[in-house]
Amino acid sequence: MLHQKIDPSTNVDRNLCAENVSISIGKTPIVRDVSFEAASGELLAIIGPSGSGKTTLLRALTGELSYEGHAFLSGRELGGMSAEDQAVLRGVLPQISQISFPLTVSEVVALGLLDRRAGRLQRETRISEALAKVGLAGFEGRTYQDLSGGEQQRTQLARVLCQVWDPVPADGQPRWLFLDEPVSSLDIKHQYQIMHLAADYAARGGGVVAVMHDLNLTAEFANKVLVMKCGKQLAYGSNESVMCSGTLTTAYDFQLDLVEVRSGRKLFLHPAPVKI
Ligand SMILES: Nc1ncnc2c1ncn2[C@@H]1O[C@H](COP(=O)(O)OP(=O)(O)OP(=O)(O)O)[C@@H](O)[C@H]1O
Ligand SMILES: [Mg+2]
Repeated sequence: MLHQKIDPSTNVDRNLCAENVSISIGKTPIVRDVSFEAASGELLAIIGPSGSGKTTLLRALTGELSYEGHAFLSGRELGGMSAEDQAVLRGVLPQISQISFPLTVSEVVALGLLDRRAGRLQRETRISEALAKVGLAGFEGRTYQDLSGGEQQRTQLARVLCQVWDPVPADGQPRWLFLDEPVSSLDIKHQYQIMHLAADYAARGGGVVAVMHDLNLTAEFANKVLVMKCGKQLAYGSNESVMCSGTLTTAYDFQLDLVEVRSGRKLFLHPAPVKI
């Protein structure tokens, strides 16, 4: 499954397609030769050890970093798209979001509302709907800085949702969620809530790319998985083909057994009490 050749002409107008993408920061190569295709209607998880290049790859795919190779979103080379055009097609949840102004939750979420023609009531309704979706109903007037880490993360996700609310709006072009560790600071109930939200966005025709550390949630929710290691693509393919103990043990240099499969669910565990 290494370095699969991608044909960008296949369904390209609805997909995210990377072909031999390499990224350097300054003179340092960080990501080398990554190729994959994410279809709208699916959730692609990017996994791999800390420092393997997941965030760097996502930052290139969201226009923050330049890249070599090719990357197409809805048939257009990302490198040639304006920030405004990209913002219409996709919302981005960064791994870390810092806000140094004393904004309310409502004001933070409103940053995602691109349609300036919407009336005040319409905007307020959408903000409340987005907050309810991430389990923060009633948080509108709270000060963002006073929220817990997990509450801040879900507020940011509500902002992203506001930006690309309809997975497939009237223009027929799928919208995309690019999420960097969307559940990393959440408790298990909210992890499931947000993963279901992302899966539902994909089920309704949108595209989702999520950087994940939780292998069990990845196994449960991802349609496709890209595994990064040391800045390279170790594996890419369907959930079934990638999420196996051999590939994951190689990826993390850490023995991982697939200990349980029940009703299609996988559970990955280190086989013995951990002593590192
Ligand atoms: N601006 C930068 N300058 C130099 N090196 C960088 C820069 N940004 C990232 N790196 C390095 O690139 C590598 C990949 O970083 P990246 O943030 O993509 O990892 P990651 O897979 O997202 O890790 P994590 O799971 O810890 O978030 C790391 O070794 C990191 O130190
Ligand atoms: Mg990262």
